[in-house]
Amino acid sequence: MQFAYANNSATVKADALLVPVYEGGKGLNEYGFGAKLGKAFKKGDFEGKAGSTLMLHKNDGVAAERVFLIGLGKKDKTGAQHLGEAIAAFFRGGSVNGYKLKHIAVALDLFKSVTGGETGRWVAEGALLGDYHFDVLFSKKDKKKHHASKLTLAGGKDAELKKGVAYGEVTAHYVAHARDLVNEPSNRINPATLAKFAQDMAKKVPGLKCTILHKPQIEKLKMGAFLGVNAGSDIPAHLIVLEWNGGKKGDKPIAYVGKGLTFDSGGYDIKPAAGMLGMKMDMGGGAATICALGAIGKLKLKVNAVGVVPATENLINGKAYHPGSVLTSMSGQTIEIGNTDAEGRLALCDALTYTQQKFKPRAIVDMATLTGAQVVALGGKVVGLMSNDDKLAKNIETAFSNVGEEVWRLPLPDFYDKQLDSSIADMSNIGGNPGTVTAGLFLQRFIDKGQKWAHLDIAGPAMNDGEGWRLWSGKSATGAPVRSLVELAEKF
Ligand code: BES
Ligand code: MN
Ligand code: ZN
Repeated sequence: MQFAYANNSATVKADALLVPVYEGGKGLNEYGFGAKLGKAFKKGDFEGKAGSTLMLHKNDGVAAERVFLIGLGKKDKTGAQHLGEAIAAFFRGGSVNGYKLKHIAVALDLFKSVTGGETGRWVAEGALLGDYHFDVLFSKKDKKKHHASKLTLAGGKDAELKKGVAYGEVTAHYVAHARDLVNEPSNRINPATLAKFAQDMAKKVPGLKCTILHKPQIEKLKMGAFLGVNAGSDIPAHLIVLEWNGGKKGDKPIAYVGKGLTFDSGGYDIKPAAGMLGMKMDMGGGAATICALGAIGKLKLKVNAVGVVPATENLINGKAYHPGSVLTSMSGQTIEIGNTDAEGRLALCDALTYTQQKFKPRAIVDMATLTGAQVVALGGKVVGLMSNDDKLAKNIETAFSNVGEEVWRLPLPDFYDKQLDSSIADMSNIGGNPGTVTAGLFLQRFIDKGQKWAHLDIAGPAMNDGEGWRLWSGKSATGAPVRSLVELAEKF
């Protein structure tokens, strides 16, 4: 999709002009041609509800072939978030394909009070992410989505608009990559191909360094927990490391660490069929980490950032780790395996130790599709946050809220930590209920004293199993929380 700019929304010769309006027609008068469109409201054909659209053909005072009123919903948020979401809803709806729209314009008259940077970013992200569709695996052309080729931002004027669009194009591009990686089945994205993706991605971003640690190096580092998970797989473990040095030399980086389980069968504690189906998404944290680093580099953010992804499958063969096995982690701490399906924390704990030793980060944020309990507690739209630092937690909450992603903080109380104790090793890899919190407490045992750290459980939000929502499409990977990670790296 190519972006273009025009001063006057009424005179753009497009196949369709999108006219954003709040509930009850609020805002319609901001458009020069608005009064003539008002009858749709009076007749009750259109109420302006979020995500709704009404097509009006050949309108007086408008050069575009069609007008689509697009509903912004109630004016309950500031900024241009409503606009981005309304545009996303339009692009994932049937109209672009139904009318084979090629050139779409969006009237921005209503958003003149919002900065151009913010408006441009929301328009680009809304259009590109609403337009996203994973269709590379269909062999027939008619299953592929029709995409509009041009989007004109009209009536916005602000010089900052272009900068915002350029920013949003980058973030949307990397969110789309993260979605692709999660949507791709595990016979196509495995630890080796995930590592190859990261390398190829880094080649396209000048200054972004990608190092792949192969199994012999992982063995040398004594990552016994990570290797325990990998033992049952024919594909060797890969540790993917990305480094972006856009900040001052010597400034400690912010570190992102993402779970990269390209498939999780559960191991000998095997998952039931319904639970195993879909476990191609168990690298959602890793995908977010890789793609956030890609976006941070492409945007040339003035920060130092690293991304670390332990990539493996969790499978079963004669070499696989057993329930009851005891593994020695890179930290030296020993772990009794109470359940081979609690594998993500084992891959992560060694990645956390490595990241702290190697990079001495100013903060670590790990993200993982870690527990089914997160889905029970917070569902598919709200990420679970745990942290040992209130300020970091607040910054994460602000970053999420700035980009319209949702997060909720859970506690890490000492009294649940005891549940991880084992009678024969330093700890067990399971700690009972509350499962999301005991998983967080397990990871915390690998965090050095004084190290600022936060953990994001994205088990639900990695994959949208519902209808379209905000910038997400239905029943498809979301790319969460890539945009929040970019925002966090930039602002904090
Ligand atoms: N990858 C799963 C968690 C998961 C479940 C992600 C559902 C997305 C949707 C994780 O490895 C896992 O199996 N966790 C277990 C831990 C338990 C054995 C302590 C779980 O949550 O059941
Ligand atoms: Mn598991
Ligand atoms: Zn898993």
